[in-house]
Amino acid sequence: PKPNLAPTPPMGWNSWNKFKCDVSEKLIREQADAMAASGMKDAGYQYIVIDDCWQKSRDADGNIQADPERFPSGIKALADYVHSKGLKFGLYSDAGSLTCGGRPGSAGHEFQDARQYAKWGVDYLKYDWCHTGTRNAEAAYTIMAKALRESGRDIVLSICEWGTAQPERWAPKLGHLWRTTGDIYDAWEGKKDWSMGMTNILDLQAERESVAGPNAWADPDMLEIGNGNMTTTEYESHFSLWAMLAAPLIAGNDMSRMDADTLRILTNKDVIAVDQDALGKPGRRALKEGDLEVWVRPLQGGEYAAVLFNRGRTPADMKLNWDRLGLPGNQKADVKDLWSKKVAKGVSGSYGARVAPHGVVMVRVKPAP
Ligand code: GLA
Repeated sequence: PKPNLAPTPPMGWNSWNKFKCDVSEKLIREQADAMAASGMKDAGYQYIVIDDCWQKSRDADGNIQADPERFPSGIKALADYVHSKGLKFGLYSDAGSLTCGGRPGSAGHEFQDARQYAKWGVDYLKYDWCHTGTRNAEAAYTIMAKALRESGRDIVLSICEWGTAQPERWAPKLGHLWRTTGDIYDAWEGKKDWSMGMTNILDLQAERESVAGPNAWADPDMLEIGNGNMTTTEYESHFSLWAMLAAPLIAGNDMSRMDADTLRILTNKDVIAVDQDALGKPGRRALKEGDLEVWVRPLQGGEYAAVLFNRGRTPADMKLNWDRLGLPGNQKADVKDLWSKKVAKGVSGSYGARVAPHGVVMVRVKPAP
């Protein structure tokens, strides 16, 4: 069976959203330094993952080679550096002949690649689905899952199949997380080619019943917080909603140049605690009335998280009714606003708040004993 490497959703950073193919050992070292020094590591972020384009070719024996110009010291030295910061190291490959970026894929080289990753000190593999032809997805991911298990090293498997072959049926037994949608891009909403804005991803996720839980998390793709094309309010919504979904929290910005708001959002400990809640039960959309939505998530110890979400262009007065949580109307509870940090004690029946346009109010509800 697969090792228990993700009792709560993985937290880390990945190069793709901000840097695409512009990766190098210098960049990765800078990001590892920034994760360790900025407060990101203290908040729980752990994995530094190089996405596509680190690879160049295979040698005569079929061994995968890093791009020697961009990674002159080699992957082993880079993994050692990341580990020296108290962090974990991840790489990317693909189940096809080529990666999405046209680099060599792992098809036919799964066991050789997994052994190489283990030798290098890889802790996490994101495994993509481009150029796979007529391959069966479950069969292909089963091979890499087995290869990683037999590599002798604990390696998290991040399945990146985009939700096209019903991964919820087979991915939970093979991987620690699996993508459920096409790619996110840094926008409130929109669609282009196979990618879409933050709220489009959220809608796809909301319409599915989640089978995610400890050691097998549904992945609505990586975070865009700090990449500049959404407002601070919109990024707070993005982070809150991903936490409600029990999504992996994989930052996708330049951690070496974070403004105060970006760092404040990505390291909000109360929101992270919801994401990382030990019960491991993803939240769901409990109510949708036009632009207004209520999301709820049960937490360990009989507590709840809830998000009042206003997609509209004007402020809205919204209410979380206790019946959305399954609580009796006369139940008293303490309600903490996880962004303003204000606590309301002994609330019963419902909790009301004014919600900014494109914003959320996110609360933690603790029923009185
Ligand atoms: C696909 C994945 C992305 C990224 C790119 C890299 O589009 O879904 O997350 O890994 O490939 O080429």
